[in-house]
Amino acid sequence: MAFPTTRMRRLRTTHQLRGLVRETRLTASDLVYPLFVAEGLEGREPIWTMPGIDRLSLAESVVEAGAAAALGIPAVILFGIPAQKDGAGSGAYDDDGIVQLATRAIKRAHPELIVITDLCLCEYTDHGHCGVLRAPAGDAREGEPPVTVDNDATLELLARTAVSQARAGADIVAPSDMMDGRIGAIREALDEADLSDTPILAYSSKFASACYGPFRAAADSAPAVGDRRGYQMDPANGAEAVRESLLDVEEGADLLMVKPALPYLDIIRRVKDATRLPLVAYNTGGEYAMLKAAAAAGYMDERSAVLEALTGIRRAGADIIITYHAKDAAQWLT
Ligand code: PBG
Ligand code: ZN
Repeated sequence: MAFPTTRMRRLRTTHQLRGLVRETRLTASDLVYPLFVAEGLEGREPIWTMPGIDRLSLAESVVEAGAAAALGIPAVILFGIPAQKDGAGSGAYDDDGIVQLATRAIKRAHPELIVITDLCLCEYTDHGHCGVLRAPAGDAREGEPPVTVDNDATLELLARTAVSQARAGADIVAPSDMMDGRIGAIREALDEADLSDTPILAYSSKFASACYGPFRAAADSAPAVGDRRGYQMDPANGAEAVRESLLDVEEGADLLMVKPALPYLDIIRRVKDATRLPLVAYNTGGEYAMLKAAAAAGYMDERSAVLEALTGIRRAGADIIITYHAKDAAQWLT
């Protein structure tokens, strides 16, 4: 053949033609903006691992939620930083806990904004694990984790937290702990508390990732001993992510999540193809920090890198993206 019969470049000639044939759309309405609300804080405090993101007082969380809403972002996800932590993470299920207070305040000021509450104990426990601890039987053997999280004892506390958050007005509760059976336990507790309309966003495929480092600095929630590999997933496993997701569907999840996003685009696609639920990807603090650092150093153009990354996450199969870039992206997309 002496000439190309198919000219791929024909549809790339103008901005308008490229727009017409674009397969993946990214808009502010796909984004969820995370907020860190700190009990007892005055004003704001920058988070050094996540440039551009602050810890917020209760009042500032309402201001920041309003700023997101004004940019067309439909939802925020709340993380609480309590003034006091204890072994049982009691701040998580305190009806006047920081997330409960922030939920009420934000819903009062911005009723149309969707408030999602992250549901876990690690920000509230003094040891930083996502559940209550059980000492290992006998002397811990070599290679065994020094601490074990008690699955079923934790389920009760998660269920209490879910009911408390939903009563405070959370539109969606989002368990991020990775205990077995939590979706079923939370669904049952919500239904019994007459909260059967509250949807559950399950952090189904949550990998044990280095990408959570910046977040743990923000939430002061790094485990004091051991790590989270006894409950979060091994980054090497894909079939297991599909299995976790299908289990969560069976237990009553309304939305599923893959977290982190960028190193796990194949998982997003596999879970999307294996289920029919709305799929949320969490573009984590580590992904945000890498890009912000590269942009600050002048290695990459921030705007095009962010929009490319978010578009890639959508193309992989995510319907919704939780991202610290949400406010910037929403501005760039209008
Ligand atoms: C709590 C929780 C974490 C994140 C969301 N919920 C941290 C963790 O599991 O250590 C991570 C968010 C991020 O990295 O941006 N379980
Ligand atoms: Zn946790």
